[in-house]
Amino acid sequence: MLEQLFRKKGITENTNTQLKRCLSAFDLTLLGVGCIIGTGIFVLTGIVAATHSGPAIIISFIIAGTACAFAALSYAELSSSIGGCGSAYGYSYVAFGELFAWIIGWILLLEYGVAIAAVASGWSGYFNNALVAINIGLPEYLINPPSAGGIINLPASIIIILIMMLLIAGVKESVKLNTIMVFIKISAILIFIFIALFNINPNNWTPFIPFGWFDRLPDGETIGIFAGASIVFFAYVGFDAVSTAAEEAINPQKDLPKGILYSLIICTIFYVIVSALLTGVIYYEELNVSDPVAFALSQLGYSWSSALVATGAIFGLATVMLVLFYALTRVIFSMSRDGLLPEYLSSVNKKTKVPVKVILTTGIIISTIAGFVSLGELAEIVNIGTLSAFIIVCFGVIALRSRHKINTFKNRWHPLIPILGILCCGSLMFFLPTDTWIRFLIWLFLGIIFYFCYSIRHSKLK
Ligand code: ALA
Repeated sequence: MLEQLFRKKGITENTNTQLKRCLSAFDLTLLGVGCIIGTGIFVLTGIVAATHSGPAIIISFIIAGTACAFAALSYAELSSSIGGCGSAYGYSYVAFGELFAWIIGWILLLEYGVAIAAVASGWSGYFNNALVAINIGLPEYLINPPSAGGIINLPASIIIILIMMLLIAGVKESVKLNTIMVFIKISAILIFIFIALFNINPNNWTPFIPFGWFDRLPDGETIGIFAGASIVFFAYVGFDAVSTAAEEAINPQKDLPKGILYSLIICTIFYVIVSALLTGVIYYEELNVSDPVAFALSQLGYSWSSALVATGAIFGLATVMLVLFYALTRVIFSMSRDGLLPEYLSSVNKKTKVPVKVILTTGIIISTIAGFVSLGELAEIVNIGTLSAFIIVCFGVIALRSRHKINTFKNRWHPLIPILGILCCGSLMFFLPTDTWIRFLIWLFLGIIFYFCYSIRHSKLK
């Protein structure tokens, strides 16, 4: 039994040539930027500045970014050495064996699935605001799920179906559209930076640390710079998704590390600049709104550019959903190919070489969740899941270096980098609220039941 739980794959056993190799380093970097910049900067910055970190949100972003940098270097190393589109799931299969791999795969399903639905509801808010601006806003019951007093969050549900159709059309098509939308999103951010630079009031940065460094309140909620870091961490979720493109990258060993690291660097620079400027132009207490970047511009009197930024956010959030959805389908595809999930999820359309069935199935499920479930609080569960995946990847680097020769991308400071990754990500997990921990443990428990009822008997690695 124990032997079965810890059966491992070989370092080259993850790959498959069924999918179409068509992505360059440039495509992969834009895929990363597409996935990373979204709700974190367009929605969460304001709330976190107002309620957790104050102007010191810039430090929260730097802390979360540093934890991600260590994890990203570990991802870069593993993605260049181990093939396969399963990302952390595939790496764990090689490093620690099947049970760990299953648990990480199960966590990734949570990470990507909930993140897509959560971003869809943020998108729906921005989209409806745009409709209201041209006097065709939807009625409340069509933009809220039943738990929030409505019938369905229709825009959230429909956008998932549209993205599903795009992914079915093909990877190259999706990547082309992603590129265009990423440029629109970056232009929106640049407009904000340009205007904000000339409107800073340094008084807004005092007090700089109004909520202290960290405190856990009696109800389990957390505040302070570190608590803020554990929430704005959501803004970085997604660079790991680049590694799920391993089987569609033209030169995965060289280009995946580039895609992962370049996209993380670009986004960190933007986050630090935008959060500093945002709290420099508007006093942090006033930023508790769902569209802080557009809000700041309209407060400064630039309503046209506020509309432009809102448009950028609509496209920007769409790319996040697109890439997260892409990553989710590739992880499920990989788990199904190994027999841990039902086999039909890994069939590939012969003509387009796209895994159509998994895209359709997940699209319908997530569209339903986004339409009918209120997702506000669940977003934090994405962070705890992602952080645990990062920790496993860092452990994976340590385990694999001792067993295999790694040639392509190798961190110079070993094992310092993965150890720092484990410590930083572990601390960020600690700073999350107690409720989030409970939900996460319930999800893990369900996963373990599924593994012992189904996956262990269907695994192809017998
Ligand atoms: N990093 C992504 C976002 O901020 C998930 O929306």
